[in-house]
Amino acid sequence: MQRREFLKSSLLAGSATLLTRSRALGQSPSSSADAHIEILLDEPLGAISPNLYGHFTEHLGGVIYDGIWVGEDSKIPNTGGIRKSITDRLRQIKAPVIRWPGGCFADSYDWKDGIGPRAKRPRRTNFWEVDPEAKRLAANAPQIYEPNTFGTDEFVHFCRLSGAEPYIAANLRSLPAIDFDRWIEYCNSPAGSTTLADTRAASGFRDPFNVRYWGVGNESWGCGGNFTPQDYATEFKRFTTWTPGYGVDLQLIASGSSDFDLDWARAFFEKLLTGRPFVNPNLFGWSVHYYTWNLSRGKTRDWVAGKGDALSFDPVDWYELFSQGVEMERIVHDQWSVLGEYDREHRIKLVVDEYGPWYRPGTALDPTHLLGQQITMRDAVHTALTLDIFNRNPEKVGMAACAQLVNCLNALFMSHEDKFIVTPNFHVFDLYSAHQGAEGIRAEFSAPRIHYDRDGKPAAFAGLNGAASRKNNTVTVTVVNPSVDAARETELLVRGGNVASASASILSNADLHAHNTFEHEGVSAPQSKDLTTRGNTVACTFPPASVSRVTITLS
Ligand code: AHR
Repeated sequence: MQRREFLKSSLLAGSATLLTRSRALGQSPSSSADAHIEILLDEPLGAISPNLYGHFTEHLGGVIYDGIWVGEDSKIPNTGGIRKSITDRLRQIKAPVIRWPGGCFADSYDWKDGIGPRAKRPRRTNFWEVDPEAKRLAANAPQIYEPNTFGTDEFVHFCRLSGAEPYIAANLRSLPAIDFDRWIEYCNSPAGSTTLADTRAASGFRDPFNVRYWGVGNESWGCGGNFTPQDYATEFKRFTTWTPGYGVDLQLIASGSSDFDLDWARAFFEKLLTGRPFVNPNLFGWSVHYYTWNLSRGKTRDWVAGKGDALSFDPVDWYELFSQGVEMERIVHDQWSVLGEYDREHRIKLVVDEYGPWYRPGTALDPTHLLGQQITMRDAVHTALTLDIFNRNPEKVGMAACAQLVNCLNALFMSHEDKFIVTPNFHVFDLYSAHQGAEGIRAEFSAPRIHYDRDGKPAAFAGLNGAASRKNNTVTVTVVNPSVDAARETELLVRGGNVASASASILSNADLHAHNTFEHEGVSAPQSKDLTTRGNTVACTFPPASVSRVTITLS
């Protein structure tokens, strides 16, 4: 559907207040600019950890088998069985960290099944065989009976090929605590030191993997054991009271809250840190999961009935997705303030290790890709809005992982057999990689709000959104224009430095539903252009439904 047809639906005219912030600031705005971004170089927010740009891979549908693992004997270009096109692309976007093996799969996974000679590894029932969509698959599909071909060695190899650090989510529901110690031992004990180090060496990995990031269970309030927060705190202590070190500065991540659940956080930390406090210096992160899934416009909270479609949507669905998505900022603030009640120095960071839109089934590129869904410009805009929330809160969010990397929910890639494509989300990660390791700086965005009709009730969404950072003389400003129809002529004003030059890379498409398939590239790579500067002001027009990166060089 093209934009013209699309706009026939019930959008209210954009009768928003025109903010003239720069006039108030004593600037002389260009005559036509209706939006302003004020970049405050003297107001640093903290270093943006590269780990905010992490990814998540689970033994689920087509993520591992078909997505990443193609096998050593495959004709598909691979390195030791790992699809080369995916690791090349992950290097391009500077993927910092990858989480594995789940998700829900993690708490039914025995790591010992996935080591040693591949031909001898056991087949086990995959957690996701319960998924209603799995019923249509062949009885011997790897999505149902896990072959364990891809295990710890293969995962760490995949990370190395991608230039990323491994983040392993350990099983707390169905394995004893000693297994957690032993998995760390397998990964990190020095060559020749332990029996497990010898086992690793026999598989071709003499030197330790030095895995730093370890999740202690996944969604322990749900698929990871249906624990109470108090019981999970007890288990967490049992699992982490002693873990072997081998000189690796382990970073442990506790299974935190879903969505807006502050009670889970409060009750967990109450049990962990008060009375007889358990203070573990290796407790690095508190995991938070937030999926954007309810497109029912308030009609239901039912997990199945509330879902929308990945490809078929109208402008109201478009804005509704974003309105829900940006609730992430409230979650970050609220979770952070609960952490602060118990961890006053804020040593423990938020690890948002699952996020993204989740639609109803039906748009996957192959039936084996359980939870697979198409990725349109709408998802690219949603991903950019989310990443900018992380960029604006760098002191709070220490790590994040987009769910999931390939052939699944909010994927960056899709592949089947020898076919491989990038999705619009890939381009967002590519644009945004410039923020990695930079100093976040405050930026004030002002633009007319977007008004729309939510089934007879007025609703509104911010007209322009984004974040800024600085690395030496380079200022990066990422800008999202979520409007379905209005371009934003914008003035970017730099305070506290002198502008030498500026350019922009813009991801946009006239069709809001544009997406890529194996046959057709509907969304191509961002277009670059030089921008006009005047003093410390940069002019840029952001097209409707666009995600942009403005690069400003300071003199
Ligand atoms: O990403 C899909 C699933 O969503 C994960 O396995 C689980 O952790 C979450 O509920």
